[in-house]
Amino acid sequence: MTPAQSACLADALVAGYGILAQGDPALAAVECTINLLEQSGLFNAGRGANRQLDGVQRMDAAIMEGAQLKAGAVASIEGIAHPITVARLVMEETDHVLLVGPFAGKFARHFTLDRHRITGTPRRLSYGRILAKQKRSRTKRHGTVGAVALDRSGTVAAGASTGGIESMLPGRVGDTPLIGSGVYADNHSGAVSMTGIGEGIIRLVIAKSICDRLAMGKSPAVAARQVLRILTSRIHGTAGAIVLSPDGRFAIRHVTPHMAAGWWNGTGHVTSHMAAGWWNGTGQPIIQGEFP
Ligand code: GLY
Repeated sequence: MTPAQSACLADALVAGYGILAQGDPALAAVECTINLLEQSGLFNAGRGANRQLDGVQRMDAAIMEGAQLKAGAVASIEGIAHPITVARLVMEETDHVLLVGPFAGKFARHFTLDRHRITGTPRRLSYGRILAKQKRSRTKRHGTVGAVALDRSGTVAAGASTGGIESMLPGRVGDTPLIGSGVYADNHSGAVSMTGIGEGIIRLVIAKSICDRLAMGKSPAVAARQVLRILTSRIHGTAGAIVLSPDGRFAIRHVTPHMAAGWWNGTGHVTSHMAAGWWNGTGQPIIQGEFP
């Protein structure tokens, strides 16, 4: 984590906590925190979103609250600075959960949301060349941003926003906008937001799987560790989870090489952390990042 990312994370945590401290809903705290990360350009979301192999930024986001299990999401949205805000609008202003592509953009522009200038022109590559480029790529850098929060009324919320992963085919959508995969929130179990390679997270419906374990009485740390172990041992997946239970216990666990994360309960200093570790893909996975 660079010093700029660390400072941005701390600012986002302070702003999110400020919303909770004035008695506003967890949903608002999650949206505000993610907004700041999106607009920083320092993470793979909003202004900093990855480009797909045709050179276009297509972003995904989702948000969910745990009292009434309301959720909203957008996938493959272009030219919008704050996909998480569009996801919240889908939740609050429509009867739907997920809007995609140009229609999600049209919906956002109806609410005159901030657009961000699309720099660079789409690459005019044949589909064959795009596929070849993807096959050659060895990297799968990610860096989805996410937040979970618990408000005074006891309601939890979770959100995530992303530009996907590196070397994506145009139109690829990851876990982030899929409720139950990238995010989940339920006052009867907890709130989870995921980062990592979406393909594995989708196949194991990880956010909901962690929540199900919370509902069975597991702690956030144990629930996350158990599900991440299944991800690594069954399908060699890569992910990180932030997990919050309705009684305020939380855990940050990852089986990615790195994960930048932070937390703040309104007292002392904001804590931000860059954990690092490894897994060589054989034997038992090492659950590298376990904090706090
Ligand atoms: N977790 C982000 C993605 O795979 O798109």
